[in-house]
Amino acid sequence: MEDSQRHPFLRNLSKHRGAPSTAIVIFGASGDLTSRKLIPAIYNLGVDNLLPADFFLLGFGRKDIPNDEYREHARSSIDTFSRRPLNPGLWDHLGPQVYYQQGGYDEKEAYISLAQHVDELEKKLGRDLQLLFYISTPPQVFEPILENLGQSGLAKRNVDTPLFTKVIIEKPFGKDLNTAQHLNQVILHQFEEKQVYRIDHYLGKETVQDLLVHRFANAIFEPIWNREYVDCIQITVAEDIGVGSRGGYYDQSGALRDMVQNHTMQLLSLIAMEPPVSLDPEAIRDEKVKVLKAIQPLKLGAKDSDVVRARYDKGLVGGNPVLGYLDEDGIPDASATETYAALRLSINNWRWKGVPFYMRSGKRMARRVSEIAIQFKRPPGILFSEGTRFDLAPNTMVLRIQPDEGSTLLLNAKVPGLETRTQPVKMHFHYETTFGSNTPEAYERLILDSMVGDNTLFIRGDETEASWKLVTPILDHWKELGIHGLEQYSSGSWGPLPSERLLWKNGHEWRRPGF
Ligand SMILES: NC(=O)c1ccc[n+]([C@@H]2O[C@H](COP(=O)([O-])OP(=O)(O)OC[C@H]3O[C@@H](n4cnc5c(N)ncnc54)[C@H](OP(=O)(O)O)[C@@H]3O)[C@@H](O)[C@H]2O)c1
Repeated sequence: MEDSQRHPFLRNLSKHRGAPSTAIVIFGASGDLTSRKLIPAIYNLGVDNLLPADFFLLGFGRKDIPNDEYREHARSSIDTFSRRPLNPGLWDHLGPQVYYQQGGYDEKEAYISLAQHVDELEKKLGRDLQLLFYISTPPQVFEPILENLGQSGLAKRNVDTPLFTKVIIEKPFGKDLNTAQHLNQVILHQFEEKQVYRIDHYLGKETVQDLLVHRFANAIFEPIWNREYVDCIQITVAEDIGVGSRGGYYDQSGALRDMVQNHTMQLLSLIAMEPPVSLDPEAIRDEKVKVLKAIQPLKLGAKDSDVVRARYDKGLVGGNPVLGYLDEDGIPDASATETYAALRLSINNWRWKGVPFYMRSGKRMARRVSEIAIQFKRPPGILFSEGTRFDLAPNTMVLRIQPDEGSTLLLNAKVPGLETRTQPVKMHFHYETTFGSNTPEAYERLILDSMVGDNTLFIRGDETEASWKLVTPILDHWKELGIHGLEQYSSGSWGPLPSERLLWKNGHEWRRPGF
């Protein structure tokens, strides 16, 4: 293709990030994630002139869908879900680069046809393409896809060149340590680790990436980011929605697998890791793994347990009555699945010894919020609180992942008046106010990174195993207990009372996130 024939939106990509000519193959191309997130993300990369000039999207799935129909489906996904409106000029160029191939995920011939299709595209283009496989199917077909990519030779295409094939794998990555290890073995049988991009879309969020900038681009935080100054750290990933139409899936998973093992553990490792020696992906991922490995096994006995689980009962969310978990569609009467999990963790290293890390995640909670609160030790009360019933409030740094992205520092200030009275006040930074609201979606960043071969924001094999190693004994313990010890909380609350007790032991309380 001549440069003069390329659409202006797609030209000069190398000015930005330099992704090579690429074909993204999406397995599960007719699915929910593809329509809502992946196609709109790819389109928005096109709007930002970040797609390679030679770019193709190949949908793959079991349904028989003609190319034209799939292009129409892609267009309407953009229309419905893109953060920016569809630009007809750009679509006229992108649309014809979209193809669909019907095939079974375990059908060898389908992969041979796929390879032929790629060969044809390359012949027309007169150069090789980088292949990026995006596995966006339910996990039961991850294995046949990976194996067929290996056996068909697609996995090892251009393996010794910069155009080596890459594979993105959606969550869930296993359901316990054994299954995660098995999946890693299957992957590494067909691919090298450098080709593998295990996704946790949380890492693609601007505010999650900003954790590293907050910590390491500001000299004032690092000296106090340790056991000398920090009293405790609280990580909250709360949703106000229930299981909705995903009851069948969710009941097999639960809060610990669905949110804690991946998202909250990722937040913990970014907030607690040592400064990496560089921004090289391996340097960052090495530090994340080290901190996960330094977390002590959790106490699970009946007394002084480090974990609490619960499920939501009926209640009011946003003033509206909602059903309890057991009354939701697809939930068996005998379910013992938790919709809320809270953990108390200790990190046994020089920086954090003695500082409790609390994490909680739940559905149907009082509000949707993801945040990390670093609570510093209280100042001595000598000057301003001696002789009163009140302690000074601890300074707290709150990093808000969503919504209302930004950060807040809680300080004590003097209340105006003739007496000296103090009151906690807030210093706010709002992303939207400072930078505007049209920030890229997590999937845009992650797809772009995988096209240019940057796996910093993806989970390495040993990282996912380190996290499962912590979580699996809890899952096994809960399985043994069945329904016994499963607490209840009212929908619209902040969780059950025992999760408050988890903090009282150390004289702490959960924050009530109010921004
Ligand atoms: N949806 C989300 O918001 C979201 C968020 C984060 C992560 N994820 C992860 O992303 C992946 C895809 O999610 P999704 O919601 O898009 O899934 P989905 O809509 O249920 O399935 C995607 C596609 O996979 C094929 N498929 C479905 N069930 C299958 C089965 N039992 N055996 C073989 N193929 C099957 C179907 O395509 P064909 O029938 O055409 O083959 C379907 O269109 C999952 O691993 C999910 O955990 C999803």
